Amino acid sequence: MDLEAHQFISYFEREQAAQVCKLAVVENFADREIIFQEGEIPDFVYLVLAGEVEFRKNNGNNKYQTVALAKQNDFFGEFGVLDGQPRSAQAIVCSGATLARIPRDGLMEILNNTKGSVVLKLLGYIVRHLRSTTAQYVNQMVHKEKMALVGEMVNTIIHDFRSPVTSIYLASVMLKEFHPDEETIEWCDIIQAQVRRMLGMAEEALEFASGHAVLNTQPVNLDFLLQNFEKLNRIYFKDAKVEFKLNTADVVINADENKLMRVLQNLVGNAVEAFKGCGGRIEISALAKEKVAEIIICDNGPGIPEEIREHLFDPFVTYGKRGGTGLGTAIAKSIIEAHSGEISFRSNADEGTTFYIRLPLISQ
Ligand SMILES: Nc1ncnc2c1ncn2[C@@H]1O[C@H](COP(=O)(O)OP(=O)(O)OP(=O)(O)O)[C@@H](O)[C@H]1O
Ligand SMILES: [Mg+2]
Repeated sequence: MDLEAHQFISYFEREQAAQVCKLAVVENFADREIIFQEGEIPDFVYLVLAGEVEFRKNNGNNKYQTVALAKQNDFFGEFGVLDGQPRSAQAIVCSGATLARIPRDGLMEILNNTKGSVVLKLLGYIVRHLRSTTAQYVNQMVHKEKMALVGEMVNTIIHDFRSPVTSIYLASVMLKEFHPDEETIEWCDIIQAQVRRMLGMAEEALEFASGHAVLNTQPVNLDFLLQNFEKLNRIYFKDAKVEFKLNTADVVINADENKLMRVLQNLVGNAVEAFKGCGGRIEISALAKEKVAEIIICDNGPGIPEEIREHLFDPFVTYGKRGGTGLGTAIAKSIIEAHSGEISFRSNADEGTTFYIRLPLISQ
C-alpha cells in the first residue's frame, strides 16, 4: 500500500500528514530480518505497508514466544517512542515486509504541535491494540495453566494405571506358558501387543504433559528410517487395505529416530483411521531442499474436518473418533519443533490430506 494511504498518516491533518510522510523512510525487509531487539532504546515508529511482522519475547534458553503480529496498515513501536522505555519484545519480519520508519524526534515535534483529535485517534488505536494483545496473553496463560493441570492428572492416572496393566501383561505371559495351544497363544499375543500399545501411549502422554521432549539425536538416514517404517506397518496396511508408496532419497538428518517414528505413526495412523476400513492410498516422500530435509505424507482420504483445521495441532482437538484423545498431532508438532523443524498441512475433502515436515539437514 502507499504510505499516504496508511491509517497512521490518516490520523493527521493534511499539512502534518505531509510532514510525517516526508520524515518517513520506506524500506524493504527480508524474511526473518530482525527490526529491533527486546531491550533496545526506541528511535522509530514503524508503519507496515506490506507483509507481516511478528513480536516475540525471549522465554530464556533462546526460546521465543510470539506475543503479537502486525499486518499491512498496522503500526508498531509507538509505545517506546511515546514513553522512551526500552523495547518490550523483539520485532522480526515474517515473510518479507515493506515498512516506513518514522524517527522519534521528528514525530514528537509534530505531535507536540498537533490537535487533540489526532492524539485521541492515536490513543484509540493504542487502546484497541493493547486490549487484543492482553486478551491473547490471557488465553495463552489459561492454556498454560490447563496444560499444567492436565500434566498433573496424567501423572497421577498413569502412575496408578501402570501396575494393573503390567499385571495383565504378566498374566497373559503365564497363560501362554500354561496353555500353549495355538488359539490361546494368538489371543495372548493380541493382549500383549495392545498392552504394549497402551504403555507406549501412556509414556507419550506423560512426556507431552511434562512439556519437554528429551531428544536422543544421532545421524539418521531417512531412506533407512522410512523403509523400516514400512516394514513395521506392512501387516497393518494390509489389514486396512492401504496401498502404501515410498519415494525416498539418501537424506541424512540429526534426529531422535524413535521420536520421528512416532510422528510418522501418529500421522499415518490418522490417515488409516480416516479411511474407516474402506482402504486408500498413502504416500511418503523424503527429499533434500537446500538446507532442509522435507518429509511429505500424503493420503487420499476424506480430508481433515473443516471444524478443526485451524486448531488441529492444539492438544485435545479430536473429531469423529471414538476414543481419540486428540494428542497425536499435538505430540507430532512438539517433537518436530524440538528438532528445530516445522510441520504444516494442506487438506480438503476432494484430494485428501498432505503433511509437510521440514527438518534441518546435517550441514556438510
Ligand atoms: N489424515 C487425516 N485425514 C482426515 N482426518 C484427519 C487426518 N489426520 C487427522 N485428522 C483429524 O484430526 C483429528 C485430530 O487428530 P489427532 O491425531 O491430533 O487426534 P486423534 O487422532 O483424534 O486422537 P489420538 O491421536 O490422540 O488418538 C482426528 O480426530 C481426525 O478427525
Ligand atoms: Mg491421532
